[in-house]
Amino acid sequence: MITIFGATGNTGAPLVEALLRKGAPIRAATSDPGKLESLRAKGCEAVTASYQDQASLERACAEAERIYLVTPAHIDMRRWKANAIAAAKAAGVRHVVLATGLGASPKARLTFGKWHSETQELLKSSGLDWTFIQPTYFMQNLLWQAKTIAGEGVYKDDLGGPVAWIDARDIADVAAEALTGPGHEGQAYGLTGPEALTGQDIARLVSEATGRAVRWVLLPPEDAKAGMIAAGMHPEVAAAMVELAALAPRGYLAGIEDTVTRVLGRPARRFSDFIKEQASSFIN
Ligand SMILES: NC(=O)c1ccc[n+]([C@@H]2O[C@H](COP(=O)([O-])OP(=O)(O)OC[C@H]3O[C@@H](n4cnc5c(N)ncnc54)[C@H](OP(=O)(O)O)[C@@H]3O)[C@@H](O)[C@H]2O)c1
Repeated sequence: MITIFGATGNTGAPLVEALLRKGAPIRAATSDPGKLESLRAKGCEAVTASYQDQASLERACAEAERIYLVTPAHIDMRRWKANAIAAAKAAGVRHVVLATGLGASPKARLTFGKWHSETQELLKSSGLDWTFIQPTYFMQNLLWQAKTIAGEGVYKDDLGGPVAWIDARDIADVAAEALTGPGHEGQAYGLTGPEALTGQDIARLVSEATGRAVRWVLLPPEDAKAGMIAAGMHPEVAAAMVELAALAPRGYLAGIEDTVTRVLGRPARRFSDFIKEQASSFIN
């Protein structure tokens, strides 16, 4: 049995699909009882579990040999993941596939890198087998702006430099392989897409896909941060987001990793194809 935490999220939802395609026995966990039915309709076991409720985490891990562990970028994410790791250990789980972020290591100097590293080191010291899934920015983040793009014809770029965006479905496919295939224990998988694209590139690709001019606008960091806080994000997390984004103009988010090809034997998905698939989301 494989338990998937965050099974309704950006990486967890495609991971459920990928594991079902492989015929793996899976248990999808959600904190929202209202989502159980749609998870079960996919053909898997589904349970409720909250990162704040240790007993629910242990129930979700019962009889599981492996788990996928992801939390949202949340001020309590380190504590939540520590709770889940403790629950996995108590339940007799063997292998944890942990989603963190590109660059997470004890040498990291940025907030997210340090936070993710803390959890990685905790998992390493737990005695459980581990695999780290360390992605860069998700292509799916573009959908947060779908209404603005459709309504105002504007793409607001909060990065201001080239980024090697990855499709969350590729993250899920690598995680699925780590959860079902041999030899992934002790591996840290840095994950990017196949090319680095700027905000101007993205605006152009959306224009081409929709047949409608979409203008590129650079969003100043203070405005990006204020927007995230207004949307309910903790100010410390919003500050960490802006800190990370500041790497883009310096070219530090443009590096390409070949992990998707190495692990899956096929190239990573391209942003242009994702935008074409999603074109209707960017039109009113
Ligand atoms: N987005 C990016 O560009 C990016 C880039 C690099 C790294 N990352 C990292 O990736 C992670 C986010 O991954 P993701 O986008 O797949 O996650 P996500 O979709 O933001 O969240 C995963 C799931 O967590 C569940 N959840 C929320 N609160 C919970 C709670 N209290 N207890 C149990 N479950 C709870 C939610 O599902 P339910 O409502 O069903 O419970 C949600 O669907 C973060 O660690 C972030 O730092 C993100």
